[in-house]
Amino acid sequence: MKYRHVFHAGNFADVHKHVTLLALIRALSRKDKGFLLLDTHAGRGLYDLQAEGSRKTAEADRGIALLESASRGDWPTEIKDYLDTLKAIRREQSSRRAYPGSPLIALAAIRPQDRAVFIETQAEEHTVLHRLLPRESGRVVAECADGYQRIRHWLPNSERRALVLIDPPYEDTTADFRAVEIAACEVLRRLPNAVVAIWYPIKHERDTQEWRHRLISRLPKPPDEACTPAISSELWIHPPDSRVGLNGSGMLILNPPWQIDEQMAIWLPILREVLDTERTGGAVVRSLQ
Ligand SMILES: C[S@@+](CC[C@H](N)C(=O)[O-])C[C@H]1O[C@@H](n2cnc3c(N)ncnc32)[C@H](O)[C@@H]1O
Repeated sequence: MKYRHVFHAGNFADVHKHVTLLALIRALSRKDKGFLLLDTHAGRGLYDLQAEGSRKTAEADRGIALLESASRGDWPTEIKDYLDTLKAIRREQSSRRAYPGSPLIALAAIRPQDRAVFIETQAEEHTVLHRLLPRESGRVVAECADGYQRIRHWLPNSERRALVLIDPPYEDTTADFRAVEIAACEVLRRLPNAVVAIWYPIKHERDTQEWRHRLISRLPKPPDEACTPAISSELWIHPPDSRVGLNGSGMLILNPPWQIDEQMAIWLPILREVLDTERTGGAVVRSLQ
């Protein structure tokens, strides 16, 4: 069966991923020079939280809906920025039930000097995404292709700055974890300073830990440093060894922008506070090198 993100749109993992993505884009925007945003597994860009698939799982009720209803004026900028972006996109789409995926969040945040490429393998999802993109702009591209394969086409890029989001479905968990390792190495071989953000599911903590170590140990050595800096941000809402399925959400970031880990250490506990309603989870930001 083909993976359909509509069943999961707006869940706690999406919220964690999208707050992080937006903060990374803002961090890269601190320099005037443009960058390329490469989203290797883009999805359809926009989801309807009242669509049958979404209503059936009701995952957004325990994700974005909780965050919106708990919203406070004294929250960290990164969470407020995300909620403001969500509101602006809903206004633009004239729909309060719309939930933006990574492409629409990225489009709302990139500047005229930046470019974005969104790759999606399913024709149906790609078609929806393609229709959402600005028509006149050659700096935003949607491709119906294999995101892993297209890395070598798009990198290295002329700007020599890039943010690569790798967000596969992990339907075949072992294959996707392995493919992500290869893709991260490929990105860094082509552009050693690229910021790479990899989303990963936390099902069993031991497996996740092994994978993180393996990935880090296989990365190519950067030309001027001993190793590529790496951090992870993890949020789990069930004990990391329970049999629920998806216990937690992880973001592994290679070449993290300056001080992003310190900012994460402020916003992540707030996401946990709101999303971990049963108080069985946790949150941690780690340096991996
Ligand atoms: C988790 S969803 C992406 C969600 C999206 N990044 C977001 O945050 O809104 C994963 C997507 O990857 C697509 N996909 C699966 N294998 C792929 C591949 N090899 N290349 C590109 N897209 C792929 C799936 O069809 C699905 O839409």
